[in-house]
Amino acid sequence: MSEKDLTLVLIKPDGLTHSLTGDILTQLSAPSMEIAGAKVVSVDRDLAEAHYWEHKEKPYFETTIRYLLGEYHSNHRVMALAYYGEDAIATIRKKMGPTNPLVAKHDPAALTSIRAKYGSIEPVKNDDGSDMIINGSTVFLFFNLVHGSDGPQTAEYEVKLWFQPEDIAEAKRVQVAKPGSRFETVERIVREFDQAGNQLGEKTVLAWKKPAEQVREEMKNKG
Ligand code: CDP
Ligand code: MG
Repeated sequence: MSEKDLTLVLIKPDGLTHSLTGDILTQLSAPSMEIAGAKVVSVDRDLAEAHYWEHKEKPYFETTIRYLLGEYHSNHRVMALAYYGEDAIATIRKKMGPTNPLVAKHDPAALTSIRAKYGSIEPVKNDDGSDMIINGSTVFLFFNLVHGSDGPQTAEYEVKLWFQPEDIAEAKRVQVAKPGSRFETVERIVREFDQAGNQLGEKTVLAWKKPAEQVREEMKNKG
């Protein structure tokens, strides 16, 4: 049997603005997965940048941060969920569909995915309402409604970033605090990120360090 995953899902601000949370939760549900944590979060720039740290150099970084901050939807909240189950990371990614909503709408294998059904691509607007143009091209953004972790390491980092240990059901929390977890990698990501000027990792991700050490101690005592 393959290992069970704990993975992060975000319903982005447009999902809340368009009252799609119920539909999205229904689409995400599967007998193989359960919800291990859920909360509504008021996102600030530090959290958004820590979340999308891997995209820092990408041309779409700033607009993607603004999207997560809710600046395009007059709503500064997102819903954060941790799903737990066998192959939860891949199961969620499949239910979400491809990153680009247009690709999702034309991919026969993704026609019923969340991004195919509800996603859109729109030109990004300047403050004065005109289309944003960079290097002669209109800037478009994928409004794709949901985020899902893309692998075990990012899942661990992202669950630890968005949730405090006590927010996650204890039996599932062990999954991201167990001996031999990818915690060392996560710590390294946080250190590198914090060196770039964002102190959020110290406050959030490293809150998991103590539970991780406790679990290691318990495992040692059990022999
Ligand atoms: O969300 P996913 O993992 O499928 O895609 P990603 O490649 O990790 O990109 C993160 C987010 O950046 C996407 O979900 C989009 O909201 C945004 N993005 C965009 O607007 N335009 C692109 N060309 C690529 C990403
Ligand atoms: Mg991604």
